[in-house]
Amino acid sequence: MLPVVFLVLLFLTDGVSPKKVCSYQDVLDYLNLTFDNSMLQLTRPVVDHTHPTVVELDLILYAILAVIEKTQTFIPFLWATVMWNNEHISWDPAQFCGITHISIPKNLLWRPDLFIYEMTRKDESPQNPHMYLSYDGKITSEEDMNVVSTCKLDVHKFPFDTQRCNISIGSAIHSADEIRILPFSNSSRATQFSRELMKSQGEWEFLQLSITSYNFSYHNRNWEQLIYTFTIKRRPFLHVINFLLPILFFLCLDLASFFISDCRGEKLGFKVTVLLAISVLLLILNDILPCMSNKTPLIATYCIVIFGLMLLSLLETILVTYLMEFDSASLEKRRLKDDCRDKEDKEEKDNTDDSYAAEKRWTRCSCICNVSEGEKEHEVLPLAPEANRSIQSREGHVLLLILKEMKVLQKTINLCLSSRDEGRRPGRWATRINRAFFIFYLTTVSLFLSLIFYEWNS
Ligand SMILES: *[C@@H]1O[C@H](CO)[C@@H](O)[C@H](O)[C@H]1NC(C)=O
Ligand SMILES: *[C@@H]1O[C@H](CO)[C@@H](O)[C@H](O)[C@H]1NC(C)=O
Repeated sequence: MLPVVFLVLLFLTDGVSPKKVCSYQDVLDYLNLTFDNSMLQLTRPVVDHTHPTVVELDLILYAILAVIEKTQTFIPFLWATVMWNNEHISWDPAQFCGITHISIPKNLLWRPDLFIYEMTRKDESPQNPHMYLSYDGKITSEEDMNVVSTCKLDVHKFPFDTQRCNISIGSAIHSADEIRILPFSNSSRATQFSRELMKSQGEWEFLQLSITSYNFSYHNRNWEQLIYTFTIKRRPFLHVINFLLPILFFLCLDLASFFISDCRGEKLGFKVTVLLAISVLLLILNDILPCMSNKTPLIATYCIVIFGLMLLSLLETILVTYLMEFDSASLEKRRLKDDCRDKEDKEEKDNTDDSYAAEKRWTRCSCICNVSEGEKEHEVLPLAPEANRSIQSREGHVLLLILKEMKVLQKTINLCLSSRDEGRRPGRWATRINRAFFIFYLTTVSLFLSLIFYEWNS
């Protein structure tokens, strides 16, 4: 091959001094770099074994694929660049037509055994098969990584939370005196790089990447690791729309229900419906939040307190309804009794006629009937003319007396009816309870909401 190229070049340049041609294979041949050359693959490439191999690392965040609160998982997509020196390799670029870099398969040479401490699942994304070799022995390897890592997610402020997740990188078996791991670029540079390269615009906003070096001892050896801390902030919009606002709306509805009249069961039904709607929303929360024992998430407090307040207002409505029913019944009874007694007294006073006794008994009965069953009074009323007719044969003044009695009876019935209506209407004390509770409710709600939003903001 080479002589042919030479001849062609000779022919083309037409007698001018021949230009040397080199291939990458020449470099590999010079370096004895083959898959059989185990010398370059097996051991750490240092001439003096006390020399540490310095590994420089650069990590850039490409995308945040997922953050799962329930399983405490952080899945970033990272781009890692690893650089180290191989002391056995060097060539003079001048000898090889200025070739300064060649790309070689990754398993041709020794590589540092870096791994991520937080990684919980093997990365299955396709691997880049090559790495770059420089004439002075510097090797650059690049890696795309889909890292499924554990991260202690603090959901206390969910959905207004900021999370800090660590990716710690260290050597698996080499301690700090064998492999030193250093960051290639500092925190601000890495942050800027990541900001420029971030592809996704998802739920999470990338804020900052900070790099720290950390030494720890284990088995009497000193291990070094590089910790990349990603600070990310949740965009709360969706959760606010989906969850916080609906609950707030239901709370407003519950507040508004104080203006529904207490009379019939409408208010009660309305409040129960609102309470049910909230409990459906609480199911969503169950899907998002992990089981945590240390610190209650604010959103759980928010839900429980609002739920509790609504329950309290429902109980208040039930209490007022019950008391009103009780009050109206006793009021009715009392009034009817009073009326009857009044009438009896009056009857006793102007009762002189013997024929009047039957009538008196009838009236008393009708009164008692009124007390026991309110409906009876309508049946009693048409009976009166009958009774009237049965004693038609009596004298005129008796008739007049009966007419008078009838009028009194009519008045009694009217009074009874009106007293019943009055009882149905919310009594003064019921209005008072309602008003007091409404003020208490409004104060508690506004205090609680301002407190919890303050806490969320801080
Ligand atoms: C490559 O191997 C040959 C003999 O096999 C040896 O003479 C030469 O020095 C080696 N080159 C390097 C760079 O180790
Ligand atoms: C970690 O250990 C190495 C080697 O012993 C030392 O050079 C380095 O300064 C240490 N780093 C820290 C952060 O202590």
